[in-house]
Amino acid sequence: MTFATPSLAPTTLSAEGLLLRPLRESDEPAVAEALRDADILRWAAGHATVRAPVHERAAVWLRSRISGWAAGDAYFAVTDGTTGEFHGALGVREINRLPDQAVVGYWVTPRSRGRGVARTALDTAAGWALAAPEDGGLGVHRISLDHVESNVASCRVAVAAGFRPEGVMRDYFKEPSGRRHDAHLHARLAAGRPE
Ligand SMILES: CC(C)(COP(=O)(O)OP(=O)(O)OC[C@H]1O[C@@H](n2cnc3c(N)ncnc32)[C@H](O)[C@@H]1OP(=O)(O)O)[C@@H](O)C(=O)NCCC(=O)NCCS
Repeated sequence: MTFATPSLAPTTLSAEGLLLRPLRESDEPAVAEALRDADILRWAAGHATVRAPVHERAAVWLRSRISGWAAGDAYFAVTDGTTGEFHGALGVREINRLPDQAVVGYWVTPRSRGRGVARTALDTAAGWALAAPEDGGLGVHRISLDHVESNVASCRVAVAAGFRPEGVMRDYFKEPSGRRHDAHLHARLAAGRPE
C-alpha cells in the first residue's frame, strides 16, 4: 500500500554471506515450495495467498511483492551470496504510514532454518531502513514487527536483531482459519535515543 513514500528504487543488500535482492518472477518455484510449509502459510503468507488455489499461491504471493517496490514497499528475496540459493523472504512495508516508521516481516524456508539466516537478514534490512538517506538508507526512526506469542523462534530472531519487546497486542493476529492470537510487538530505533 502506498503511503508517503511513493516508490522505492530496487535495492540489494548484503551481509554475512547473504544477498537480499528484489523478488522476481523466477523465484516462483522456490516460493511455491516454501508455501507448502504450514508455519509460513499460517504466520507469514497472508490471507490473499492462503485463499488462492494451491497451484496459484506462489504467483499470487509474488505478484504484489514484485510490484511493491513501485508502490513504496521493499520486498526482498533472502539468498546465498555465493550460490544464489533461495533461503526466504523479507518485506519492509508501511514505510511512513506513520511518520518516520516502517514495519518488517520475514520467513525462512524449512531447509535454511537454524543457522542465523533470519537474524542476519532482519538485522541487515533494519540497518538499511534506519540509516540516513545520505548513507543509502530509508531514514526511518523506528521499525517494528509482530509475532504470535507462541512463535518462540520469531521472538528470538527479533531480539537477536535488536528489536526490543514492547508488549502484548491482544487478539492482534487473525489466522486465515479465523483463529485469533495475542501477538508480541517488537521495535528497533535509529541510534540516538538512549535505551
Ligand atoms: C521464525 C523463522 C523466520 C526463524 O528463521 P531462522 O533462520 O531459523 O532463525 P535464526 O537461525 O536466525 O534464529 C535466530 C534465533 O532464533 C532461535 N530459533 C530459531 N528457530 C527456533 C525454534 N524453532 N525454537 C526456538 N528458537 C529458535 C535461534 O536459536 C536463534 O536464537 P539465538 O540467537 O538466541 O541463538 C523461521 O522459523 C520461519 O520462517 N518460520 C515460519 C514463518 C514465521 O514464523 N515467520 C515469522 C512471522 S512473525
